[in-house]
Parts: sequence; C-alpha cells; structure tokens
Amino acid sequence: MELKWWTVVQLILIQSWCVLSSGSRPPAIKPFHFSDVVSEGSRTAVICVVTNGDVPLEFKWFKDGKSLQSEEGHFAIQLIDEFTSILTIKKLDSHSNGNYTCRVTNSVGSDEKSDILVMRGKIIEIEHLGYLDVTYCNC
Ligand SMILES: *[C@@H]1O[C@H](CO)[C@@H](O)[C@H](O)[C@H]1NC(C)=O
Repeated sequence: MELKWWTVVQLILIQSWCVLSSGSRPPAIKPFHFSDVVSEGSRTAVICVVTNGDVPLEFKWFKDGKSLQSEEGHFAIQLIDEFTSILTIKKLDSHSNGNYTCRVTNSVGSDEKSDILVMRGKIIEIEHLGYLDVTYCNC
C-alpha cells in the first residue's frame, strides 16, 4: 500500500517536471549569411529564423552593436510570423558595411547570431610587377 502511494507521487512529480521543462525553452536562431556578391546600389536581405524556443519572441536587429530601426530609404525590418524577421538593406553603399546581429529574447533566455557585410566597390585592376594585383575600392 505504501509503495503504491509513493509510486503515484513519483508519477505526479515526473509529469509536472515534464510540463515545466517543456514550457521553458530559450530561443535558438538559425545562422544567416549575406551573399558573397553584393554590389553598390543594389539591395540585400537576411532572414532571422528561430528554430527552437517558446513564444512570445522579441526580435531586435543591430548594426555594429547599435539598434536598427526601419528607416525610410535605408532599412526595412519586417516580422513575417512569430518566429521570423527579415532585415532588408534597401540601398547598399560603403556605409552599409558592418557587423549585423539579430537578437531574439523570450521569457527564459535569448540568442543572437551575426554576420559581417562586406560591400565591395568596383573592381580595379592594377598592373603590379608583372602580375595582376586585384584590389577593390568604393568609388
Ligand atoms: C559581431 O557582433 C557580435 C555581437 O555584438 C559579436 O558577438 C561578434 O563577435 C561580432 N563579430 C565580429 C567579427 O566582430
């Protein structure tokens, strides 16, 4: 009799532990990357997808550690659904270069992923000691 009572208590404990632990998962962001070829005057976008973690999720974008907002003519930040946010850089120029970060927070934790955008200007070729030395400039 005493053994049965203890078994019931154990089952209840295990069940409540499962409910509690499954209800508290921190977010996990899928890494994103700017494509290798981005040229001046064009536009690009990266997508921040949360593959794990409980809602509600709060999305924040940063460039070199500074908070990014949607800005006419420069950036657009769009929440696609409760797990997904897209950052669009509307017009790439040399000022677009930087370290872009998506940070997602929920009630139990946060995650962030970053990628570096390197915008290359026109390619200029310089004859250098008999072989071609390729350099880039933002001109
Ligand atoms: C980019 O920014 C993130 C977040 O601030 C930082 O953890 C990471 O080290 C930075 N990457 C580089 C290459 O500076």
